[in-house]
Amino acid sequence: MRLDYLSIFPDYLAPLQLSLPGKAVASGLLDLHVHDLRQWTHDRHHTTDDTPYGGGAGMVMKPEPFGEAFEALEVGAGDTVVFTTPSGQPFDQRVAEDLATRSRLVFACGRYEGIDQRVIDHARSIAEVREISLGDYVLNGGEVAALAITEAVVRLLPGFMGNAESLVEESHAEGGLLEYPVYTKPRVWRDREVPDVLLSGDHGRIAAWRHDQAVRRTAERRPDLLHPSALDDGTPIVRAGRGDAEELLTLQRACWVQEALANDLLDIPALHEGLDEVRDWIGTWETYLVRRAGRLVGAVRARLDGEVWEIGRLMVAPDLQGQGLGRALLDHVQAVAPAGATSYALVTGGRSERNLRLYKKAGFRLRRDLAAPVGAVTLTKAR
Ligand code: ADE
Repeated sequence: MRLDYLSIFPDYLAPLQLSLPGKAVASGLLDLHVHDLRQWTHDRHHTTDDTPYGGGAGMVMKPEPFGEAFEALEVGAGDTVVFTTPSGQPFDQRVAEDLATRSRLVFACGRYEGIDQRVIDHARSIAEVREISLGDYVLNGGEVAALAITEAVVRLLPGFMGNAESLVEESHAEGGLLEYPVYTKPRVWRDREVPDVLLSGDHGRIAAWRHDQAVRRTAERRPDLLHPSALDDGTPIVRAGRGDAEELLTLQRACWVQEALANDLLDIPALHEGLDEVRDWIGTWETYLVRRAGRLVGAVRARLDGEVWEIGRLMVAPDLQGQGLGRALLDHVQAVAPAGATSYALVTGGRSERNLRLYKKAGFRLRRDLAAPVGAVTLTKAR
């Protein structure tokens, strides 16, 4: 991944050379460039700001240096320009996962009262633009935000962290739950003991205890994260019954014709199932549905196979794809996995680009070492 930073205080970004990002640069995983925005000024004082049109307090960052910087750095199609600003989209783990899929991020760090709006509009005409806020408070400039975003993003890059499992277990990565409490040696410290269950060696009980602790913590500290049974707009996600089989069959055919075309495969079983088969699997798979205006528009199913929560038939009506419904269903079905599940697995068409992108963004990894039907691939994720 290539990372560029435009700042009038490049020294602020020196920590990027330290520790893990520094190592990632040395190993070639990251190609990192910090630029002093003042090199694209032409006056004696290297001016990068001016008073706002229309009056008001503070100074606004001038457009010309940014424009020249974008040209000099050949920012263009395929690149993502990140403007760090308190009026941007709130940064969270989902945004980090999304940015981790990009090949180049260019951080434009604002100072003062912000950057001339035309810089953002211009950037949007040559590249993808994201305006991102670190949180509901005002920093002196965007540099600290750029550092924080960088750290959250680059640790998600394959090969960056030594232990990929620690990535998926931590807070905000597992179905939106906070992390459970952790302990290390000694077993007793100042009369405080490590909970017995962690010493039991019973992995099933330990997993169940941790899940329970994570749910309790989340309920206490972040109840806003605990609404797995509804979409952001409040639309409920409900369990399916056999009576839903006819509508499910219609949705399934619409989705699997698409899948068959994308993968040049006509023998996908889901495409050839009839009503009886759908009724049968609704009985054995936990199936979840979303309706809009009474119409079935999304579904997903899962079942426990040993310790694996096997997820499948993630379907969104073709006219509503690309709006986050698939991701919401995928998050939901992970959040409702029983305590005994230690990982998630799913199968998709090897050429279903949209699905693969969705699953990778959600933390799933391609597993070519695991079996999959002809033309398909298996993806897994630790819980
Ligand atoms: N610049 C100033 N405040 C900021 C914030 N909260 N997030 C991102 N960039 C900023």
